Amino acid sequence: MSPEFHLYVHWPYCRSKCGYCDFASYVPRQMWDPARFVAAYRADIAALRGRTGERELASVFFGGGTPSLAEPEVIGAVVEAAMAAWAPRADCEVTLEANPGTVDKKRLRALRDAGVNRLSVGAQSFDPASLKALGREHSVDDTKHALTWGHDIFERLSFDLITARPGLSLGLWEDELGEALEFAGEHLSVYQLTVEDGTPLARAVAEGRVTMPDEDTGADIFEATRRILAAAGRPAYEVSNFARPGAECRHNLGIWRGADYGGVGPAAHGRLTLEDGRFATRHAPDVHAWLKGPPAPRMEALDAEERAREHVMMALRLTEGVSAAGFAAAFAEAGLADPRELMHRDALDEAVGLGLLVSDDAGVRATETGVMVLNTLTVRLLEDRR
Ligand SMILES: C[S@@+](CC[C@H](N)C(=O)[O-])C[C@H]1O[C@@H](n2cnc3c(N)ncnc32)[C@H](O)[C@@H]1O
Ligand code: SF4
Repeated sequence: MSPEFHLYVHWPYCRSKCGYCDFASYVPRQMWDPARFVAAYRADIAALRGRTGERELASVFFGGGTPSLAEPEVIGAVVEAAMAAWAPRADCEVTLEANPGTVDKKRLRALRDAGVNRLSVGAQSFDPASLKALGREHSVDDTKHALTWGHDIFERLSFDLITARPGLSLGLWEDELGEALEFAGEHLSVYQLTVEDGTPLARAVAEGRVTMPDEDTGADIFEATRRILAAAGRPAYEVSNFARPGAECRHNLGIWRGADYGGVGPAAHGRLTLEDGRFATRHAPDVHAWLKGPPAPRMEALDAEERAREHVMMALRLTEGVSAAGFAAAFAEAGLADPRELMHRDALDEAVGLGLLVSDDAGVRATETGVMVLNTLTVRLLEDRR
C-alpha cells in the first residue's frame, strides 16, 4: 500500500448558486457558527485518523462550495488538525478554492498565514456578459484583483475557466484565453461547460432559451486550448488541467494516479486502502447532521476488478496515461498483471490502429487525437466484460 495520503476538505456554502453547478453547495439561510465548523472538522479528522492510522500527508485540498467564505481561523484550525493527525511532508501542498469577490488582500494574507500555500481562483470567464450568463456574482475586475493579489501572496496559483459556453466562438475564445494568460501562473484548469441534470442551465437548454455550442465548435475550442496553452509553456497533464512541468496540482495528480485520499466535511468522498480492502467513502450531504456529529461516512468495499477499472479510467485522463509498471504493482497480487487485461482487445487494437491510443511497454495513453474522444473511447475499452 502506498503510504502517500491526501486529504479533501469540503466547505458546503456559497454566496449564491451558479446556474450550471450541481456540486454539493448551498446558500446558507443564516450566518454559520465558525466554532461549530471547527469542532465538526476536528472530530471528522480524528475519526478518519482512527481509520487510516499513520500516513504521510502529501496534500490538503479545501474545495466546495466556496471555501474562501470560511473564516481563515476555521481553515487554520483544520490545517493544524490535519498536520497533527498525519505526518506532513515538508512540501505538503495546501490548496484552497477562492471565488473572486469573496477575498481581499487582508483575507488572502490571513489564509496564507493559516497554512494555505496554493490558491485556486474560480475565474470562469474574462468576458463580463458570460460571467453574468453563468450566474456568477463577481466582475472581471474582481477576478483580476484576486489574481494579482494571489500572485503576490501565495507561492503557487491556479485558476479555473469554463469554456464551450453558449454563444462562444473559436475566435472569441482565443482572445479570451490570451487575456487570461496575462494573469496565469504555473497552472490553469479549463473545463468544457457541462449541462448537469436538474440545474437551471439544464432547464434553459431543454426549453430552448439557451443553445450550447455544436460539437464541432466544442472540439475546435478544446483543440485550440491545448495548442495555445502548450505553446505558452503549460501543456495539458490531464484532460482539463494545464501546468508548467513540475507545477501540477499534487492533490489531484495523486488521486488520478490512484493514491488514497480521505474526505472530511459534508458530501466529501474518499478512497481508503485499509487492512480489509479498499473502500469508497462518502459523507452524507446534510450540513446540519454533519455539524451535530459528524456521522460516519458510508463505506463501500471495492473489489479488485472495480478498483482496477476505476484506476484505468482515471489514469487515461492523464497525459502520461496508465503506467504498466504502476498497474502491476497495484494489482498483480489480485491476479491482474497488466491494464490491457481489462480492455476489450478489439477496441484497443482499433484505437491503436486509428492513432487514438498508444500501447507499449510503458503502458497505455491517449494521443492528441484520442483525448478529443476520450469519454467514448474509455467506455468502449472498458465495457463490462463480466
Ligand atoms: C467547486 S468549484 C470552484 C470554487 C468556487 N466555488 C468557484 O466556483 O469559483 C469547481 C470548479 O468546477 C467548475 N464547474 C462547476 N460546474 C461546472 C459545469 N457544469 N461545467 C463545467 N465546469 C464546472 C468550475 O470551473 C468551478 O470553478
Ligand atoms: S460553481 Fe462554485 S460558486 Fe458557483 S455554485 Fe458551484 S461551488 Fe458555488
